[in-house]
Formats: sequence, C-alpha cells, structure tokens
Amino acid sequence: MTMEQVESYLDGLYPPDPELDAIKRSIAERGLRDISVGDSYGRLLTMLARMIGASRALEIGAFGGYSGLCLLRGLSGEKKLISLELREEYAAFAHQNLKQAGMGDHIEYRVGAAIDSLAVLEQEGQAFDLFFIDADKENYPQYLEYAIRLSNPGAIIIADNLMLRGRTLNLEKQGPAVLAMRRFNELVAQDQRLDSTMLSSYDGLAIMRVK
Ligand code: DHB
Ligand code: MG
Repeated sequence: MTMEQVESYLDGLYPPDPELDAIKRSIAERGLRDISVGDSYGRLLTMLARMIGASRALEIGAFGGYSGLCLLRGLSGEKKLISLELREEYAAFAHQNLKQAGMGDHIEYRVGAAIDSLAVLEQEGQAFDLFFIDADKENYPQYLEYAIRLSNPGAIIIADNLMLRGRTLNLEKQGPAVLAMRRFNELVAQDQRLDSTMLSSYDGLAIMRVK
C-alpha cells in the first residue's frame, strides 16, 4: 500500500468537481507543472474555513487559483480573499479561473513580492480569519510572523510543503529554502502564540490556530 494508492483510492471516492477539474485542465493546457495542493488538502481548506465561520482569508501564492477557489468556497458573509502573487502572469491566470468559477468578485490580487504586500496590508490595518502560506519557501518564517500579526483571534494558518519533497530531512541540503523551512517547522512547533499540528502526507502541511 503506497501513499499514492491510498490517495487515489480516497480521492476516487468523490464525484467529479467540474470547477476544480477545469482549473487543473487549464494548468495542463498551459504546459505548467501542477503544483496546486492535492484534492484532499483542497477539501481541508474549504472545511477549515467553514468550521471557523471565516469571512476574510489571505493566500500567499496564487498559481492557478486552485487553493483560492477552495478557500473561497468555505468563506461566508462578506467573503473576501486577498491573494498575494509574485507574477502578474499567474495572478491574471488565477483570476481568470476564479471568474470562471463565479468567484471573481470576491478575490483581490496583489502582485509583487509578498513580503512587501504584507507590510502594506499591515499598514492598512487589514485582518484575516484564515491564512494559506504556499509561496516562495525562503520567506516562510517571515510569512508566519506576518500571518500572526494580521490575524483575528482564533485565526487558522495553514502552510504547504514542509518537507520540500525530502530536502528538509536531507542534511546535505543547506540552501536558503531548506534552511528557512527547517526554521519554519521549528517555529510552528514551538511558538507559544500557536496551537498546531503538522501532517506528513503529500509534502507536509502545517495547521495552526492563533490563540
Ligand atoms: C512545488 C510544490 C509546491 O506545492 C509548491 O508550493 C512549490 C513547488 C514543487 O513540487 O516543486
Ligand atoms: Mg505548495
């Protein structure tokens, strides 16, 4: 029983999801490697948003809009997602996909280095109920600090790619992304402002709650 077999068995139990399937197709049609979250983690994003009654979410890293749609599906009330994306091309691509899913009016893209956009969000006094960190790995520790600072009480912070496809555990790897991710994982486990768990499947996923 491999992890891939388990995932395809469990994912295969669900009916097709035309909106999410369309996003996956659009990524393939562009010839991009699909680095969206797995189906089960997408469902988890939607569920966590619903479980806490979130209305405002912040995503760091948009790519094709897959996680954005999953987050938006779980929001209620005012329903606002701000998405930080380095590349104009991906922001436009994700926006197009979310418009097609009928969510175009609920999302705002801020293009450029996320660390700069986060500083602006803080100056603007913005606050969020839910965060999804899934952008450049070198800045994960700073993204976590900003997420905590921009959080409403009881906010949930989720982060993807804790294991960097094995590089996190390989001590021969000492590049900036790997060092930042090891530091990030330690912060998640030790920061007294957070409750947390870290899941091992896929590439590792952290789920935190700001106390
Ligand atoms: C990769 C996967 C991710 O989930 C991500 O956010 C960035 C890169 C990858 O497999 O390279
Ligand atoms: Mg990722």
